[in-house]
Amino acid sequence: MDYFEYRDGVLCAEGVALPEIAERFGTPCYVYSAATIARHYRVFDEALAGIDHEICFAVKANGNIGVLGLLADLGSGFDIVSVGELERVITAGGDPAKIVFSGVGKRVDEIERALEVGIACFNVESEAELERLDAIAQRVGKTAPVSLRVNPDVDAQTHPYIATGLKENKFGVDIARAEALYARAAEMPGLMIRGVDCHIGSQLTQLAPFRDAVKRVLALIDRLAERDIVIDHLDVGGGLGIRYRDETPPSPAAYAENIRDLVADRDLKLVFEPGRVLVGNAGVLLTRVELLKPGQSEDDKHFAVVDAAMNDLLRPALYDGWHEIVAVAPRGDTQARAWEIVGPICETGDFLGHGRELALAANDLLAVRSAGAYGFTMASSYNARPRVAEIMVDGDIPHEVRARETVADLMRGEKRLPFV
Ligand code: LLP
Repeated sequence: MDYFEYRDGVLCAEGVALPEIAERFGTPCYVYSAATIARHYRVFDEALAGIDHEICFAVKANGNIGVLGLLADLGSGFDIVSVGELERVITAGGDPAKIVFSGVGKRVDEIERALEVGIACFNVESEAELERLDAIAQRVGKTAPVSLRVNPDVDAQTHPYIATGLKENKFGVDIARAEALYARAAEMPGLMIRGVDCHIGSQLTQLAPFRDAVKRVLALIDRLAERDIVIDHLDVGGGLGIRYRDETPPSPAAYAENIRDLVADRDLKLVFEPGRVLVGNAGVLLTRVELLKPGQSEDDKHFAVVDAAMNDLLRPALYDGWHEIVAVAPRGDTQARAWEIVGPICETGDFLGHGRELALAANDLLAVRSAGAYGFTMASSYNARPRVAEIMVDGDIPHEVRARETVADLMRGEKRLPFV
């Protein structure tokens, strides 16, 4: 459920009509609904009632300080993959003691900073990283809390680019090798073993792969116990999908019930790293039709060129991701036809949607739905297009939580060679 609704024929974010936002902040811009994010967080948290758990929001889905601050206030922890994300969380008021650090290539300086602020756990993805972490921790006189990210080798049945739990991808360590690595880690003086971690993929709409993964990881935890290696938390990663079109992802309640019996009698805390499910449907990309370029005949393609492009929302171009596109103020005075919704970038792959049945005129506003996750965070400035503004609506108030970049911002730090 979200708080983007039509009122008097105009799409609103909570109490604010989207045309007002376009007027005040310009287009394109991302518009988030604070109440939707809060609701999604609470629903997820309540679904896990009775299970000792920590929710660590995956910052890569949406790293805006306004979004992170809201989640921090609700009690969320964070899953980060870089020192940049770490600093964002700290700036937003997040608690370092609720941060887990994932990623296959953590740099020395990133590890140092995470040790300095005292994060909850490093999700280590290789033997080389264990050694690096141990050496750095010893050098700075700290003990690094660690989990090993294991690859349970289950098929998440999602897009190949975002499936991560199979043996053949770069993430984690083969679950069959994990015991030996834990035994090594147990001997490293700079490390303190805390958990086991896995993440099998993103936009999952089936429950069985999650259950299979948890079962396999629990079996590993039992084998470790036989070696006196005690695990106090199981990080199950993120990955719960959302509805973009006609998907029927499980509810957070069903997601929790799917594994509740498996962990019921264990003295184990569960860590979750949801990203998309918390923020995906809490954001839209608001864009204006620049001009229409209809085909010569009805069978030709008809292009609606909008002011947002693949640099602003990459998912359609990169994954053929389908996002619903709706008119902010649907008009009755024009015939609907199938429009190619395209941006101004010089790439054929620059589209937001194909063949969308809409009644359009130049200057109309469109909302690209489900753009709250992996929208702004994947944006670039390709074609020297400044990154767009982000607006968070809270009740009746639209807050500009990130100002639109300027062309000067884009050129900052650049210079031409001096003449001789
Ligand atoms: N934890 C780890 C270790 C991850 O790698 C990810 C996402 C998450 C948690 C959060 O997953 P979520 O709950 O959001 O599914 N750019 C792609 C998605 C890439 C996901 C990468 N990892 C997209 O736009 O669909």
